Amino acid sequence: MSDYLYQTTQQYFGQLAGGSESCGEQELKALGASKIRRSYLGCYFCADQRTLYNIVYKTRIFSRILAPLIAFDCHSEKYLYKTAQNIDWSDFLTLTKTLAVTANVAKSNIRNSQYAGRILKDAIVDQFREKTTKRPDVDTRFPDLLLNLYVYENKARISVDLGGGSLHKRGYRTESVEAPMQETLAATLLQLADWNGERPLYDPFCGSGTILCEAFMRAGNVPASYLRKKFGFLRLPDFDAAVWNQIKTKANNETKDIPDDLIRGSDLNPEAVKAVRANRAELPEIGTLKVRRSDFQSLEGFENTVIVTNPPYGIRLGNTEQVTGLLKDFGDFLKQKCTGSTAFIYYGDKTLVKKLGLKPEWRHELRAGGLDGVLCRYQLY
Ligand SMILES: C[S@@+](CC[C@H](N)C(=O)[O-])C[C@H]1O[C@@H](n2cnc3c(N)ncnc32)[C@H](O)[C@@H]1O
Repeated sequence: MSDYLYQTTQQYFGQLAGGSESCGEQELKALGASKIRRSYLGCYFCADQRTLYNIVYKTRIFSRILAPLIAFDCHSEKYLYKTAQNIDWSDFLTLTKTLAVTANVAKSNIRNSQYAGRILKDAIVDQFREKTTKRPDVDTRFPDLLLNLYVYENKARISVDLGGGSLHKRGYRTESVEAPMQETLAATLLQLADWNGERPLYDPFCGSGTILCEAFMRAGNVPASYLRKKFGFLRLPDFDAAVWNQIKTKANNETKDIPDDLIRGSDLNPEAVKAVRANRAELPEIGTLKVRRSDFQSLEGFENTVIVTNPPYGIRLGNTEQVTGLLKDFGDFLKQKCTGSTAFIYYGDKTLVKKLGLKPEWRHELRAGGLDGVLCRYQLY
């Protein structure tokens, strides 16, 4: 077994959505990482093995954590193939395990990401075939080994995806209605809102309950990957099952009970309410998450509550005129019925901010899942 880059440097890369960098950095610090350096759509950081498993298991903000195997200058497809074959892939795979490759290529002689990914995959399966006449299968949905190839300005890096797939897929979303937000985005909203379960939280446009479920996990200290069945780090040659079991057991024992009425929400659509209940049922039995069918206009109002929500926006839901009217009415509702509360509103479309008729105290741009949105904070006096 050779020394791979992550072993000699103990350095990893966490990928996140644009605008979440400060939250990612904060989270890495809290989870024990060192030498954290922000970069484009992510952060580099150093961690020992124990800390690394802890980060992959608990991160709410990062969508991928990558362990680099090699980095090299790469000007052609041929050289990519040849260099990838220098790795002994039996360190990571056997014939009974499956693999997949994700690739991102930019500003390089190699132009096509998909093709570049295929070359890496070919180099791996050809190596097995030459040695054994057989090859491991590809499984793009649930691979045992997920590799990431990144080529930027003709510099290539091959990494193992330690989550084995995007970490935003927590595993609780068994049902959804239109326009659910990414779980990592909902977690970022809660972190920017600095909500830690001290004040009641309400989402009046809860949809399938992503914000509510993330709030539930956050308040109950439930590891973000609690329901995840496979992890990519299990395929690393130095994977230590004893250390991983200790980390997992300790984290699972640190969940805490959630007081009644702490986390609540509603939605106009009865299917949404059904979806929230189904999704909540996937999470551990540490408290309640109350949800009901209601138009926000019929709600009695909120005192001393943290409202975190993602109202409809024109791009995906409804037409712009309808959305404009709804936001104006929601602004009036906040002004008239929510004194003493704080509202955090994520607009999937930045042009909608002015429609609320309230001046935000601050705004934070966040891009995720194809949305170029903004989170605004309102203190309601
Ligand atoms: C952008 S979606 C929320 C998505 C949610 N954050 C999630 O992750 O699933 C907006 C939601 O507002 C709901 N909605 C629309 N008009 C409403 C109204 N007047 N009162 C309450 N909910 C409403 C829709 O049914 C939809 O589920």
